[in-house]
Amino acid sequence: GRVLLAYSGGLDTSCILAWLIEQGYEVMCYMANVGQEEDFDAAVIKAKGCGATKVFVEDLQREFVEELIYPAVQANTIYEGIYLLGTSLARPVIARRQMEIAARENCQYVSHGCTGKGNDQVRFELAYYALKPDIKVIAPWRIPEFYERFAGRKDLLAFAAEKNIPVVQTAAKPWSTDENLFHISYEAGILEDPDVTPPKDMWKLTVDPEDAPNTPERITIEFTKGKPTKVINGAKQVTDGLEIFLYLNQLARQHGIGRLDIVENRFIGIKSRGCYETPAGTILRVAHMDIEGLTLDRQVRNLRDQFVTPQYSNILYNGMYFSPEAEFLLSSIEASQKTVNGEVRLKLYKGNVIVEGRSSKTNNLYDMEESSMDVQGGFSPLDSEGFIKIQSIRLKKWGVNQKLV
Ligand code: ARG
Ligand code: SIN
Repeated sequence: GRVLLAYSGGLDTSCILAWLIEQGYEVMCYMANVGQEEDFDAAVIKAKGCGATKVFVEDLQREFVEELIYPAVQANTIYEGIYLLGTSLARPVIARRQMEIAARENCQYVSHGCTGKGNDQVRFELAYYALKPDIKVIAPWRIPEFYERFAGRKDLLAFAAEKNIPVVQTAAKPWSTDENLFHISYEAGILEDPDVTPPKDMWKLTVDPEDAPNTPERITIEFTKGKPTKVINGAKQVTDGLEIFLYLNQLARQHGIGRLDIVENRFIGIKSRGCYETPAGTILRVAHMDIEGLTLDRQVRNLRDQFVTPQYSNILYNGMYFSPEAEFLLSSIEASQKTVNGEVRLKLYKGNVIVEGRSSKTNNLYDMEESSMDVQGGFSPLDSEGFIKIQSIRLKKWGVNQKLV
């Protein structure tokens, strides 16, 4: 049989590659470029050296930003009130291209290096099955002959030596990472103790907020239907969707924006400690929520916040992006954002994203006269008195029996 392996260039997936060949499979490798820092040329050479018959490197950055990240910005997606879903968001585009290549190259099997305890195995495989229902999945970290043979890193290193797999001689980091242009995650190893503070040099995307510039930087982000369509920084203007995201990343990294250290609940049911850096995603969340304050109807916002945001966030976290419910919610996200047009002015300063003002030429729902404490609005103070009287009917009935005072 022929396998398409999701290959990272690292020790684990290189050993999986050699092991699959040892089991008698023909193996092709697939690398998704979702904006991670990676020497793809070196990885291609390595995969071929390990015996891969073909290696595909696919640039998925634009579809990642436009199809996954921006709708998540529009919906203010967040998991357990804190995690911005950086790993979850990349999985659908990675899995989709893997299925396209598997179909084109007649691979009956696909394989990945996810462990049997995490979210990613679920995310990849649910996407695989939704996109190509007849695909067969080989998950070596769930196969006893594999995980018993490679019980520790030293077993992988011994196997790599036996198979002439080059091992990069950098000291292994005592944690594992997953990187894309939206975020980087750090988990496992020394981080498994939730009370161990990560070392200062772990964080690789952002500068320590303590070391960030003492002078703030001021930018303006323009939103059209809830998506960022322009970033203005002094004389500089960026308008392309992908370029906007990359530029905000650059600014946020310099100002130490987007660090997080949390304990979260995995779909599988276990708790896991993770550290994350989400630079541009953190800026866009603050800015987008702010422009909604000015432009989004109260009741649309209320329904969206109660239902769409938490449900769509769970869908992403749990790997159900390719599903009827995601399709349904995505259309409601789009519909909710029609009026979300305008500009937000921000100050970036030592890990903070501070809103300094906002405006909308077309969809400003804020009426200065109506909201002013100094001007009589479109209704009389007596109307408010009646409003309170009616609202209190029910509460008075309750109060009679309570004897609270
Ligand atoms: N806990 C995060 C999530 O489930 C990050 C997962 C990181 N994945 C990885 N293969 N290192 O989204
Ligand atoms: C893994 O277990 O392979 C990484 C972490 C996760 O998927 O949650």
